[in-house]
Amino acid sequence: MSYKLLFVCLGNICRSPSAENIMNYLIDQAELSDRILCDSAGTSSYHIGSPPDRRMSAAASTKLGIKLQGQARQLQKSDFQEFDLILAMDRDNYDNIIALDPTGQYHHKVLLMCEFCSRHTLKEVPDPYYGGTEGFNQVIDLLLDACEGLLQHIVSAECC
Ligand code: 4NP
Repeated sequence: MSYKLLFVCLGNICRSPSAENIMNYLIDQAELSDRILCDSAGTSSYHIGSPPDRRMSAAASTKLGIKLQGQARQLQKSDFQEFDLILAMDRDNYDNIIALDPTGQYHHKVLLMCEFCSRHTLKEVPDPYYGGTEGFNQVIDLLLDACEGLLQHIVSAECC
């Protein structure tokens, strides 16, 4: 049985696919690919079926040499059972995820991604969609920090 992580943003074309791909990169390096699985989703239906945003892919490629893979999908209720941890990129994402679980049965699985940052003090991963290149680069920096912390947490808590 693998430990399953789901990264969630609004469109599933910028932040959450970056988080998923960066996490997979770190998991590969740590040789934990058979024990931790990653996926991502959006709270909206805006971009269902689309690949990651070109500007986001360019930032991931330039900064980390990672090619972003994936196809956007929308978060669904069954994800609460399917995944062990659901990581929201910002507070709006968090609220929208929680709204899909009115009984609160799965609240304990939902966390803000920036809780795992150690070098950055931002509490949310800013939405880069309507901004410039710097915003996309900042998303990669923040997510690398958070993914490193998340992996450390999973390993030290013996989740996998
Ligand atoms: P993401 O970025 O939530 O990080 O994938 C966005 C993508 C699309 C839109 C907003 C944010 N949009 O408004 O279409």
